[in-house]
Amino acid sequence: MSTQYYTASSLDGFLADEHHSLEWLFQFPQDIETDYLPFLSQVGALCMGSHTYEWLWRHHFAPDAPQPMAWPYTQPTWVFTSRALPRLEGADVTFVRGDVRPVHRAMQAAAGTQNIWIMGGGELAGQFSDAGLLDELIITIAPVTLGRGMPLLPRRIVTPPFVLADVRQVGGVFAQLRYTIPRPS
Ligand SMILES: NC(=O)c1ccc[n+]([C@@H]2O[C@H](COP(=O)([O-])OP(=O)(O)OC[C@H]3O[C@@H](n4cnc5c(N)ncnc54)[C@H](OP(=O)(O)O)[C@@H]3O)[C@@H](O)[C@H]2O)c1
Repeated sequence: MSTQYYTASSLDGFLADEHHSLEWLFQFPQDIETDYLPFLSQVGALCMGSHTYEWLWRHHFAPDAPQPMAWPYTQPTWVFTSRALPRLEGADVTFVRGDVRPVHRAMQAAAGTQNIWIMGGGELAGQFSDAGLLDELIITIAPVTLGRGMPLLPRRIVTPPFVLADVRQVGGVFAQLRYTIPRPS
């Protein structure tokens, strides 16, 4: 079981633009063969920050959503927020706030032998990193720069450095980097 921060990023290290938009990512064909489905099949629990949930809500689940769809995750999901966000009928979503460590324990219990997906954004992933709970970074880099926006991992993490585990091309478009995170001695 591994706790993985799996996300897409611009080449200059942003997850979304300053308006939380992912349009720069969605310009690429949706049928590019990625490792997303095999990755997701190994996930037993996942979590996200409030803007990620709100973006999904606005685009897919709100009564006036432009692209309606069903909640896409069968795995239990935790959403970090200090606010009251809309609930989605039929989705296994728990709203939480504060210390990530007890939430991680609950996610571990739910995931069993499967992996935990920290979906992002960067500040939430940083909190798991601060707590020594992140095992892997799996970053799919799109060939664009945004100049500003929501940072990939807004932390200074220098020693010990991450350990490069894999580099691969995805669909001839993206570069995927996989790093393991050594536990501090
Ligand atoms: N490129 C990708 O694949 C990808 C993937 C994921 C996310 N993103 C983007 O990343 C950006 C940032 O995402 P995000 O806002 O979901 O995550 P985030 O930046 O890590 O977290 C920000 C918000 O989440 C809530 N939060 C985080 N930690 C909390 C804690 N310990 N307790 C209570 N609330 C906490 C807070 O919201 P409240 O104000 O509600 O308290 C906070 O303002 C978004 O624009 C999203 O679209 C991109």
